Amino acid sequence: MQADAPPLPEIDFAIARAMLEWQMELGADEAMLDAPLNRYEVREPAPAKAVAAPTVPVAADEAPLAAPPAPAIDPIAEAEALAAGAQDLAALAEAMAAFERCELKRGARNFVFADGIAGARVLILGEAPGREEDIEGRPFVGAAGHLLDRMLAAIGLSRSAPDPAAAVYITNVLPWRPPGNREPEPEEIAMFRPFIARHIELVAPDVVVLMGNPACMAALGQRGVMRLRGHWAQAFGRPALPMAHPAHLLRNPAAKREAWADLLALRARLDG
Ligand code: URA
Repeated sequence: MQADAPPLPEIDFAIARAMLEWQMELGADEAMLDAPLNRYEVREPAPAKAVAAPTVPVAADEAPLAAPPAPAIDPIAEAEALAAGAQDLAALAEAMAAFERCELKRGARNFVFADGIAGARVLILGEAPGREEDIEGRPFVGAAGHLLDRMLAAIGLSRSAPDPAAAVYITNVLPWRPPGNREPEPEEIAMFRPFIARHIELVAPDVVVLMGNPACMAALGQRGVMRLRGHWAQAFGRPALPMAHPAHLLRNPAAKREAWADLLALRARLDG
């Protein structure tokens, strides 16, 4: 601490706890460093001093033109070009991991691409990585993921099945964890949509399951999953079934009855 810094006020347990809870509500729910860092004290490096160039008289009609403004970057157009250039899943993962237009990349620990095998008949589109997925770099490995695995097992499907007929491929709308597990913003969904479309094209599933509102937004341009659920739609050129997200089912067990009906509809579709 600096010698002239005022002494810190004493805080009791209740105040310390309230301060921590307040930070968690803002999304700061992880310790990133071993010791606290006061960002107000971190100074930007001073810009290098400009060296004056020798002046040469210029005729009025030869006056240098002002540099044109840098063209604005369109993240969606950039994502479209990167996605179209990816010829296989490895190339798509590489292109997405290198995509710099999404700020979430800077706060996340790991890039979360997918799980399961390409060629699976069913592709599950979830929302975004949570804390466990961010740590492990794999989608749906936390509590919602465990419920998802049990739901799939109930209709004879599994992400670890080697046989494409029983296999499920799992990915998310976003590959980076949003702070505090907030919902993806519309701009984030829009910039990742070209990657999602290419991802689905490369996996080539028979059906897509849209788990939760962000997946419905990305695929159908609509929210309201509990209204859309149970009705087959068309998305990315394939049959798509909106369903409640397993995290919603953990919070609202009563919704499991409808989710079971949706799983049976999925099984029936696969059985032709
Ligand atoms: N919820 C999701 O939508 N995706 C994950 O990967 C984990 C939780």
